[in-house]
Amino acid sequence: MDSISKFNGIDYANTFAKKISVMHELIKDVLSGHLNKGDVIIDIGGGPGMGAKIIENLGIEATVINIEPSTTIYDIPQLSSVKYIPLKMTFKDALDAKMPFAANCLLMVSSEHEIALCSGLSAKENKRIFFEDLNKFIHKNLKKNGLLVFGFPNYRKGASETEIDKQRRLTESLLGHSHPKEEFFSVEEFSVSLGVQPVVYIQKPMNLANENPEETILRANAAVFKIQNGNL
Ligand SMILES: C[S@@+](CC[C@H](N)C(=O)[O-])C[C@H]1O[C@@H](n2cnc3c(N)ncnc32)[C@H](O)[C@@H]1O
Repeated sequence: MDSISKFNGIDYANTFAKKISVMHELIKDVLSGHLNKGDVIIDIGGGPGMGAKIIENLGIEATVINIEPSTTIYDIPQLSSVKYIPLKMTFKDALDAKMPFAANCLLMVSSEHEIALCSGLSAKENKRIFFEDLNKFIHKNLKKNGLLVFGFPNYRKGASETEIDKQRRLTESLLGHSHPKEEFFSVEEFSVSLGVQPVVYIQKPMNLANENPEETILRANAAVFKIQNGNL
């Protein structure tokens, strides 16, 4: 099962998204206060317009471009304050495409590890290519002093192999697939690749099964980076 087709044909907003709602709450928190009326946000791997929905819920009049290769792109969210532009393409395709507008903010929520996997190499090589592509995309499409907002899952630092195996079995039973820890990103990897520290970084336990949140080793992370040298 590849990273794109595994999301094809599922009612993402009513199934998967409900299980990772902690991630979306964190993203809502970090976006609030960072976006302004009239901003353009490019949501990369946004599924059925998840970024657009969060921004709509914040009541911000903005334009959201969603780059999403799976059929979830056909599930168009109900929006009033957000202008929504869905583009059915992969992140790789988007590197060569002309975006309708330059962005004030690039957003990726739980899509980084799926996008990286598309290169089909080792986790380390996939990440190297991911960051190379991300930097190209930033230089092409992010306005000067633009923002990068990442929502990404990972396992609690120091979690044992046994704990990770147990969590993976639970994740597979609830979401249909799981990831080894090398495929997930850390905030340090983003900082190193972007050459800056985040201006905001928060994390919370992410419980997929609604048991005690403190007992899960799965973490939802949200980080905001300010990029000084956008070239637009
Ligand atoms: C876990 S979902 C996250 C969806 C959404 N961002 C959210 O907040 O719920 C991962 C998304 O990444 C997308 N994806 C996978 N490979 C991709 C690629 N190469 N380029 C862009 N998106 C990709 C999937 O189709 C899926 O919609």
